[in-house]
Amino acid sequence: MRNDLIRVLVVGVVLTAMVAFCSSSSQAQSSGETLFKTKCAACHGADGKGEVPMGKKLGARNLSSAEVQGQSDAQLTEVVTKGKNKMPAYDGKLTKEQIGELVAQIRELGKKH
Ligand code: HEC
Repeated sequence: MRNDLIRVLVVGVVLTAMVAFCSSSSQAQSSGETLFKTKCAACHGADGKGEVPMGKKLGARNLSSAEVQGQSDAQLTEVVTKGKNKMPAYDGKLTKEQIGELVAQIRELGKKH
């Protein structure tokens, strides 16, 4: 009986520590990264490669590829603001600042791959 109680306590402490660790590490993410994961990852994948069912279906390009990274910040901003084919327009849905953070996040994705 006593051992069971101790085991429950230990599991409780470990879980609490894990939750605390996870929430603190997600706060450390840049807001561009969080925005990308919530708004864009469904089609582009969290890593921007578009290797998710929706991305494959709609023809999303690998955002870390040279073709995309070779475009200027202004061009990427334009695509996100106005949309392009199946890519939705975010004008009015996201602020200019948020779109700027997303373009910075796309650059980060380019560096990683
Ligand atoms: C509904 C699915 C969908 C969502 C959500 C989505 N995209 Fe896209 N995106 C696409 C598709 C499909 C393309 C390819 C468009 C084309 O070239 O025909 C694309 C293209 C792009 C491009 C241009 C790449 C190129 O081909 O030159 C950028 C940049 C981009 N998306 C960024 C984003 C960002 C940032 C978000 C989140 C705010 C986002 N996308 C959300 C589907 C999506």
